Order: sequence, then structure tokens, then C-alpha cells
Amino acid sequence: MGSHLAGVWFTVTDLQVTSGKGSWVTTVDGQSYLDLSSGIAVTSTGHCHPHVVAAIQRQAERFVHAQVNCYRHDLLEPLGARLAEICPPGIDTFFFANSGAEATEAAVKLAKQATGRPGIVVFEGSFHGRTHQTMAMTTSKAVYRAGHAPLPSGIFVAPYPNVARAVDADAEVDRCLEGFTRLLRTQTSPAEVAAAVIEPVLGEGGYVPAPARFLQGIADACRDHGILFVADEVQTGFGRTGRMFAVDHLGLEPDVVVMAKGIASGFPMSAIGAGADLMARWPPGSHGGTYGGNPLGCAAALATIDVLTEPGFLDGVRARGARLRAGLERIGERHEGVLDVRGVGLMQALELVDGVRVAAVMKHCLAEHRVILMNAGTDGTVLRLMPPLVITDAEVDLALRALDDAIGATA
Ligand SMILES: Cc1ncc(COP(=O)(O)O)c(C=O)c1O
Repeated sequence: MGSHLAGVWFTVTDLQVTSGKGSWVTTVDGQSYLDLSSGIAVTSTGHCHPHVVAAIQRQAERFVHAQVNCYRHDLLEPLGARLAEICPPGIDTFFFANSGAEATEAAVKLAKQATGRPGIVVFEGSFHGRTHQTMAMTTSKAVYRAGHAPLPSGIFVAPYPNVARAVDADAEVDRCLEGFTRLLRTQTSPAEVAAAVIEPVLGEGGYVPAPARFLQGIADACRDHGILFVADEVQTGFGRTGRMFAVDHLGLEPDVVVMAKGIASGFPMSAIGAGADLMARWPPGSHGGTYGGNPLGCAAALATIDVLTEPGFLDGVRARGARLRAGLERIGERHEGVLDVRGVGLMQALELVDGVRVAAVMKHCLAEHRVILMNAGTDGTVLRLMPPLVITDAEVDLALRALDDAIGATA
């Protein structure tokens, strides 16, 4: 018997790691690697931020599990209050879960209960998770769905603009806005749609930022039809794009915000937020979960939010995002085969000619520079850079040198 672990996980590297600090992870043989994956956009404050670690340690001595149905522990309301301060206007009431998929499921259940409508609209290329409902909402790659039928019904897929590939960016936004309204005339009636769930920047689907006019148009159409506008900020939230939430760049006010990943620096924790009136339409007992609102997760989230709201923190994210972006653009100009450079804040990407080249670049960065990268996109043609938000200028430069060399070496 070799491994006792299931083979179902796809692997980004074969590294065996023992610890992490800031932007770095250390392997069993004592080597350090620069982690531009952040464990898939999770370690917002870096690996083992001292403030987050201390908060978890302190909390572990008080309570490891205080089940929300049985009693209420003393970090739940403080976390709700803190989230209300940093969330888009109108979002002031929260439900806690453990993962992004669970939070997305919760948002769908809230939307169905609150509106009395059965349908959900999602967007092409999106990724919302791996449970049956969220698989059915995911169209970034067929592998997530294949072999798992039957999937839940009542999900309709609208187009999501990719202005990088379009000849005319405005026409592409028009096409997709028309696609949404056509969907509501042809595939389902608006009166039967509870929510439209959208990633403001496609994550797994290829780091594709939605143009402002598109997001605003969808939000407006939702309001006109009484459809809830649900922002899946699982990957984009908690400072990743240089604002607390990606919708903050546009001043959008979603009805529901879905949060996970960066919320607690790696402690399994997720949440949905909505206005108090909307949340009040979710019948008590119709949803819940054994671990949601776990005290360690709440402590980690509160400490994470402390770090993210330190004066100048998000300015720093934007500055280092701009530094990374400028470097990527220089790489794009210098090398053949770079089709696009795109992203927001510290959520940046290079699109290359094919997925084989992306895999070769990742392999070269790992083997020659000890830099961990991930891909994205339907065909794996996108190299995504999602470093810890605390990455330094020097580490950004190191990553850029590695990428420059790897893209040259794999031409
Ligand atoms: C936008 C988005 N939504 C939902 C999820 C699902 O989160 P989890 O893997 O924690 O279930 C992900 C995970 O990558 C994501 O990027």
C-alpha cells in the first residue's frame, strides 16, 4: 500500500510542506518556496500571521466548538458587527458556514425562501463549488460536473463578457446584457427566478474581470424583476482586488454577498451577508449546520479583518498589485505567446497560447525558482497570480523574474 489518501484531489505540486510564514512555505527537506497560490486565494494575511495565530491560540483555550443552535458564543455578534462595517452598504446580517460551496448553497436557499421562486441564473465560466447544487451552477470546466448527473435543475446560464477576446468591448457587453434579458424571455420567466449569482471577476474560469457596465446592467435588471443580485465574492473578497470587496470598485450594492477563502486567513470559515429584512424572510430551522460560526473560525476572521483594516493596508495591496501588473505587462511585451495580461489588485493573470505552455511555465517556476503558481480557465491557458496580500515588493519582483525566465525558457 502506497498512500492512504484518495487520489481524487488534483495536484498543483508534489511538495510535502511542514510550515508556512507570510508568502513562503517550507518543505520537509527544509526548502522554502514563494507561494503565489495562497492555497487558492485563501491566506489573505499570509501564512500564519502572528495576530491571527495568537487569536486562534487564545480562543482554543476558551472554546473549540460552541454550536450555534445550542448556545451563542461571544464572538458571533462582534464578527457580525465587524462584517457589517466592511461589507457593501445594506449588508448587515450574517449566516456562517465552513466553505465557499456551503455559503453559495446558503445564498441559494435564502433566495428561494425569501422570494418563493425556484430558479437561479448563473454566468458562463463561473465556479461556485463542488456540492451538487454548486456543481450545477459551475460551468468553468466540464470535469467538475462530468459523471455526477443528475444535477439539480432550475439553473440557467447567461453569457459573461470576455472583453479580452472580443474585437469590440462595448459590443461584447451589449451581447451579454442582451443575453441575460433574452434568457428571461426564452428559458424562464423572471417571475420564477430567485437570484442571479455572479462572480465580479471570474476566478477559476480564468481571472476575467466583468466590465462595470455589465455588472451594473445585471444589477439593474435584477432590481427591475425582483431577482436577488448575489455577488459570489468567495475569491474576490477580503481585499484580494485592492478593495474589501470587488463590487466596492463600482459602488454596487448586492442583495447578498457570499464570502469564504480570505475571510479567516485559512481557517475553514465562510459567510453570507444580506440586509436584515431579507435575512428575516429565511424561516428559522430551514437552514443551519453543525460547525457554522465555529469560535476558532470567528477568532481567525476577526483577527484577519483587524489586519485588513489597518490604515494603508488596502493601499498597499493596490500598490503591489500595480507593481505586479506592470511587471506582467513588460513580460507580455517581451515574449511571444502571451495573449493577455489582466486582473484587479493582487488577482492578476497572464493568458498564454495554450495550457501545455502554462503547465511548462508552472513546472519551470517550481523547479528552477521555487515559486508556486496555479492555472485557471477552461483549457488551463491562464496563469493566475494570487499571492498573500502581505507580499512584499521584493517578493513581487522575485516572482516576476521567475516568470520572465520561465516564459522565455518554454518558448
Ligand atoms: C468564486 C468561488 N465560489 C465558490 C468557491 C467554492 O469554495 P470552496 O472550495 O471553499 O467550497 C470557490 C472556490 O474556488 C470560488 O472561487
